[in-house]
Amino acid sequence: MFDPKQMTHEIQNKKDQIEQALTQCIEPLKKKSSLYASIAYSIFSGGKRIRPLFLLSAYETMSGGKPIEPALIPACALELIHSYSLIHDDLPCMDNSDKRRGKATNHIIYGEDIALLAGDALLTYAFMLLSGKECKKYLDNEQMVQLVHCLSYHSGINGMVEGQAFELIQEDLKMENIHYIDEHKTAALFSASFIMGGIVAKVNFEHLDRLGSLGRSFGHAFQIADDISDFDPSSNESNIVKLLGKEKSIELYQQHMIKVNHTLDQIYTTFDHPSLKNLISWIQHTSNIV
Ligand code: IPE
Ligand code: IPE
Ligand code: MG
Ligand code: MG
Repeated sequence: MFDPKQMTHEIQNKKDQIEQALTQCIEPLKKKSSLYASIAYSIFSGGKRIRPLFLLSAYETMSGGKPIEPALIPACALELIHSYSLIHDDLPCMDNSDKRRGKATNHIIYGEDIALLAGDALLTYAFMLLSGKECKKYLDNEQMVQLVHCLSYHSGINGMVEGQAFELIQEDLKMENIHYIDEHKTAALFSASFIMGGIVAKVNFEHLDRLGSLGRSFGHAFQIADDISDFDPSSNESNIVKLLGKEKSIELYQQHMIKVNHTLDQIYTTFDHPSLKNLISWIQHTSNIV
């Protein structure tokens, strides 16, 4: 039975482990990197850690509840990529945002040049971690290559970077374009978070494919929810509320969440550990969209 109070406790526990693992990943840069302060500022500025939480929960469900240690470095690598994407997203040449998570953005504090390089450093460091000795302790070479491929595929030219680029150059605010943008800039990285959990649990291609669909549907819902909460009629950014209005946007959000729950039901015909299902129920329970 889903118990929101119990879930809040379990999620906090996982978040604490993510924070600890991130601290251990970033710590070695303290002495040697000129970018440490800027990197640490963005990594530890109140992110919800939703992508690493999904990775850990997908792993738990797919592995039948094994200890989460093997999934922690992949979860950190994913969060570093997310963090880099936000530093670059906020730059004056992109969204020109001076606030993130209620605080000054990285470039406001450290300057555009350092913020740009901190993003570059996080991007490359993520793949160094994924292919390094801390991952090798738990994973075989095939899993490591699969993880590197999955994360580079979904965050790069086939995923997040493509979505960000298309959003900048598109001129028509139409549904087809918004769908393409959301699928690439947001849903792709969510797909990676679920699939990477499956890779660490060593599940077969059919299950990885389902995890990818789950991430895509969730990612669309997530971006629509973000657009609804961020909507600013005077902004030029592509926002679904501008095209459809709030009510229709909420309907579309709900349609994507129905797909999420349908894919979850399919997954649970094979797997029975509740972690993934509970995390999604908790997110739905705490979301103020529905
Ligand atoms: C923000 O993502 C960027 C989007 C894809 C909308 P999150 O809302 O997960 O960001 P943090 O890390 O929790 O601040
Ligand atoms: C950010 O998208 C998604 C990324 C891939 C970085 P947005 O520009 O819509 O998100 P916020 O509102 O700045 O977090
Ligand atoms: Mg943006
Ligand atoms: Mg933005």
